[in-house]
Amino acid sequence: MFDATSVRREFPILDQQVHGKPLVYLDNANTTQKPVAVLEALDHYYRADNANIHRATHLLSERATRAYEGARGLVAGFLNAHDSSEIVFTRGCTEAINLVAFSFARPRLQPGDEILVTRMEHHSNIVPWQMVAQQTGAVLRVVPMDERGVLDLGAYEQLLGPRTAVAALIHVSNALGTVNPVRQMIEMAHARGVPVLLDGAQAAPHLPVDVQALDCDFYALSAHKMYGPTGIGALYGRARLLEEMPPWMGGGDMIASVTFEHTEYNRVPYKFEAGTPNIAGVVGFGAAVSFLQRFNLREIAAHEHALLTHASAALGAIDGVRLIGTAPERAGVVSFLVGDVHPHDVGTFLDRDGVAVRTGQHCAQPIMDFYGIPSTVRASFAMYNTEDDVEALVAGVHNVLRFFG
Ligand code: ALA
Repeated sequence: MFDATSVRREFPILDQQVHGKPLVYLDNANTTQKPVAVLEALDHYYRADNANIHRATHLLSERATRAYEGARGLVAGFLNAHDSSEIVFTRGCTEAINLVAFSFARPRLQPGDEILVTRMEHHSNIVPWQMVAQQTGAVLRVVPMDERGVLDLGAYEQLLGPRTAVAALIHVSNALGTVNPVRQMIEMAHARGVPVLLDGAQAAPHLPVDVQALDCDFYALSAHKMYGPTGIGALYGRARLLEEMPPWMGGGDMIASVTFEHTEYNRVPYKFEAGTPNIAGVVGFGAAVSFLQRFNLREIAAHEHALLTHASAALGAIDGVRLIGTAPERAGVVSFLVGDVHPHDVGTFLDRDGVAVRTGQHCAQPIMDFYGIPSTVRASFAMYNTEDDVEALVAGVHNVLRFFG
């Protein structure tokens, strides 16, 4: 049975005071904290194994290579990929999406082709597509959503046309928490021969993700949202598609042979990992995945959902609080406004009470434009949050209203 209070003890950073108050960390959609297992894996790697990978015959290099490739296997297992060669390490979800945009889509796009995204995308799943659209003459099409933050699947179906080259869809919205019906959306896209990339940055830490069951073509994720280090993430890609894609960046390790006349590229996934990678980051990512696999992800999802339900009900019941994003299927995130108080002021007040939240556009300006608001306050949950954290958030919001009331 999942027990958040005991898990919490594995995260040393949470045991501190800020502004004289116990830290209540509710900014997990921004980045999660790291358990001892991840901290120790990073420390051990640099103390005992540090060496470059794939390049030397000495023992440290062998150990570093084993740790790096072992982590690839762990990530593949976590996502239920067919094979670990379908996992490309990247700097994070953003780089994974850029890799697909520039290496998969750009060579295929013709003027007038369409790239389908949704109204609730993070900037990282908008801007790379705009960049390739500018370079190729392709156009962006946007799936609309309603006031609750639920996608219009009828409109999505209509938008999937003969010119649709790729659909790039957010799995769980970082600003609204909406869990999109991606299995169904992938089926609809595939029925028309459209490949699908899922931005899984906010899904992977909260829901079991099975790329084979989803049947997605690409899945992008960031380690630091999954209790792992920053600056590392991964792209899952269907083997056949990765094979077809040209490399995106050139350099060491991504080659089989180089002459001034001609270069042969390395096989997948190495073809996409030019230069010395973030080896320590990958090791930490592997440790984070092993940490997550100690738990039943469905129990974590249920725990976080209970916190979300409690927070939404308690905040929604406060006179003057407006919830932004009320989709029936949500994970981990509650976005809200407090009367006319600017979200940055709310965030500053909550911080004085020890409660860390994010305020702003959450890298999703089109969502704010949809609601006609500049920004929101966002509390986001992780496995180590408790009902006490929710109570502290609600009490903090009452303090804001008392001050500005
Ligand atoms: N995507 C991150 C967030 O939602 C940065 O805060």
